[in-house]
Amino acid sequence: MSYAEIAQKRAQAYRTKVAPLLLAIESSCDETAAAVLRGGHDVLAMQVHSQIEIHREYGGVVPEIASRSHVERIGSVVDAALKEASCTLGQIDAIAVTHGPGLVGALLVGLSYAKGLALASALPLVGVNHIAGHIAANYLSHAELKPPFVCLVASGGHSHIVLVEDYLHYSLLGRTRDDAAGEAFDKVARALSLPYPGGPELECLARLGNADAYALHAGFNAKPTLEFSFSGIKTAVINILHTAKQRGESVNYADIAASFQKAVVNVLSEKSVMAAKQAGVNTLALAGGVSANETLRQTMRVASVNAGLKFYVPVMRFCTDNAAMIGCAGHHLLMAGHIDALSLNASPSLALVAE
Ligand code: KG4
Ligand code: ZN
Repeated sequence: MSYAEIAQKRAQAYRTKVAPLLLAIESSCDETAAAVLRGGHDVLAMQVHSQIEIHREYGGVVPEIASRSHVERIGSVVDAALKEASCTLGQIDAIAVTHGPGLVGALLVGLSYAKGLALASALPLVGVNHIAGHIAANYLSHAELKPPFVCLVASGGHSHIVLVEDYLHYSLLGRTRDDAAGEAFDKVARALSLPYPGGPELECLARLGNADAYALHAGFNAKPTLEFSFSGIKTAVINILHTAKQRGESVNYADIAASFQKAVVNVLSEKSVMAAKQAGVNTLALAGGVSANETLRQTMRVASVNAGLKFYVPVMRFCTDNAAMIGCAGHHLLMAGHIDALSLNASPSLALVAE
């Protein structure tokens, strides 16, 4: 029998097994991650090697360095996940791997490794969209959550409001016209001389500041549209800093951080609630790296309750990039009969929904 035939048979077996074991791999940006899931939702092991220390001296992710670090780490991260789950590759029933969107060199490391394991062990392989993974992080944290619901995906590359119709189908309700929310956090953090990664650093600084000190607004904040724009608010912060420097005045960086964060969080929260209302669903969820922001989590929770919506956000460890969320999304694909051939390629600009 060919690999393709065996993989199909084993994918069928995966669907009928009571608690199939899935190995998941994620390497789309600056985290090398692997996880083992039982039954698609029970996380037996989760290993994440962060490259933060490596990229910090450059002030951001250097793609070539990220790829090399993934190559160095992927083997030991996968081995550690299997060890943590107390299982061997021989006991795994399928492999899920991120194939986009992300940095092409980084994606290729995880994808090639997953393909190699799949071929060597005759296991079915399923490629997962990284953004679908972020959304699925909510299922890992909240067993009762089921589609349909509206989800705000806010990460380094995305600020999308998505209607999750079922486990595999999404429609786009709104998005940013320019910078993503996480990108805006990172760029403003850099302007405030904060180290990489900017988002969490800016959140820490904002705790010390007055959020009403500066009247900053994100684009389209007062318009009844589901579109965002974060490029203007970033420029406004840079202008405040330049003007103060030219005049020899001092500025309170914590006040700027707090005012910026408040403006971004408010617009994300208001538009997400508006989208859920318009879509006629009773549930709103939050996902993506920016969902680790405590002010955003709280603001959206309160706004949802006030609007009569149930609100879900992943537990912290599933908010930023990890492989458990990829495993959960991969499980739903496998259960629906999807598997991929070994010709699966990395797709740096893979979209969640055709736009
Ligand atoms: O989802 P993620 O880990 O990677 C991508 O898929 O992009 O998201 C990373 C983004 C970065 O822009 C980072 O600054 C932002 O999420 N982020 C935060 C926080 N933690 C991560 N932004 C604001 N506050 C945070 N606590
Ligand atoms: Zn991500």
